[in-house]
Amino acid sequence: MKLKLVKDNNPIMRKRSLPVTLPLSSEDRETLNAMLDYLKKSQDEEYAKKHNIKEGVGLAAIQIGLLKRMFVVYFQMGEELVQYQLVNPRIVESSIKKCALEHGEGCLSVDDEHLGLVHRAYKIKIEAFDALSNQNVVITARGFEAIVLQHEYDHLNGMFFYDHIDKNNPDKRLLNEEIL
Ligand code: NI
Repeated sequence: MKLKLVKDNNPIMRKRSLPVTLPLSSEDRETLNAMLDYLKKSQDEEYAKKHNIKEGVGLAAIQIGLLKRMFVVYFQMGEELVQYQLVNPRIVESSIKKCALEHGEGCLSVDDEHLGLVHRAYKIKIEAFDALSNQNVVITARGFEAIVLQHEYDHLNGMFFYDHIDKNNPDKRLLNEEIL
């Protein structure tokens, strides 16, 4: 399956994605596998260069033009490989404590640079069906992992990371915010 990425100038990216029917269809499963494969390849320097693609750690279905509430993430965090294919995810808890990446966020659907702190909850709890492990999961994530999951979750609701940047004061840190 060859994936074509939708960019943020396409109005479909602002739509709210729709719940996915479970049990998962083989078509949806194939889509999720193709999405995860895309992320893995994007992190292969040689492949990425050759095909002129950006490195990514997360991808939502809407970014390949599908209005479905599902996304994949794939990245190394210390010793741990974090990888999920989440379907119908729900953020059920968000900490009051905030965090942001020091150098801001990027997105496979966003070509322009948007500088500034993207304020996120430091810790979240997500419930979802994970197609990769084929079970319902409850994920408690902190810091970078929480940021990636919130970034992808936002796509399901038509939001971009730059919506969270304070345009008047892009570098202003919030109270109780950890900068990563
Ligand atoms: Ni994104």
